[in-house]
Amino acid sequence: MSFARNKLYIGTNFKMYKNITETEQYLQALAIKTTDLAREEVCVFAIPSYTALHAASLVVDPEQILLGAQNVFWEDAGPFTGEVSPLMLKEIGVKIVELGHSERRQYFGENDFRINKKVLSCLAHGFIVLLCVGETEEDKQLKITAERLGLQLKIALNGVQDKRLSQLWIAYEPVWAIGEQGTPASPEYANTIHKILRNTLVTMFPERGAGIPILYGGSVNKENAVELIKQPEIDGLFIGRAAWDASRFNEIIRAVLPIWRSKTSKLLSV
Ligand code: PGA
Repeated sequence: MSFARNKLYIGTNFKMYKNITETEQYLQALAIKTTDLAREEVCVFAIPSYTALHAASLVVDPEQILLGAQNVFWEDAGPFTGEVSPLMLKEIGVKIVELGHSERRQYFGENDFRINKKVLSCLAHGFIVLLCVGETEEDKQLKITAERLGLQLKIALNGVQDKRLSQLWIAYEPVWAIGEQGTPASPEYANTIHKILRNTLVTMFPERGAGIPILYGGSVNKENAVELIKQPEIDGLFIGRAAWDASRFNEIIRAVLPIWRSKTSKLLSV
């Protein structure tokens, strides 16, 4: 197992929730609750809204909690009203950029080709890219999940150089599993799809594809988190609603960490 997968990745996207004060309070509480966790084995991250990011960067120690942005534009500067540049994110110490979340694809016309430009720009600027992929309910019914995910990966990651792969994380988030109306994927289903994603990554990047962390997201909660993390192909969890309270998020982290540890030691001993 490569270094990049030798860690539990666990984080949350606040979507369009939490103002500045709420974000600061959340992050301060989470930092205190998770202060004893060894960051060599667990990477905790949070992705606030743009307006709260700067304030968040002032209260968070990046050694403890990595901060991410929910989107970015690919150009450094220019006449692009309403957009935020990678340089602006760098200026405030953001480490991760989340790209391709299904809500951006669904409501804001994000497509794989635009995501590809953003991926290349973010990697060149030194960010960790958290690329979200996932099939819709319709894709699943039509049994084109593997094809859909293959297209998403192959287009979004077109032109990525091997040397940049240590900056890449993938989140598998089936669209039908996300949000209030979503049903979480069964751990077995998620594991099978992670394996398909892994195979595609290895085909695309024979040298380094095996080392890219793949996180699962979509209605993760305290009840299903442990079974999900037991799966050999699941390297981490990307959580929405169930992590928006710092205590509950901390409980999930503590529930899954020992499971992840024993899984990893078994995988390493094979
Ligand atoms: P959820 O959100 O955990 O609330 O379903 C997941 C996501 O959108 O990443």
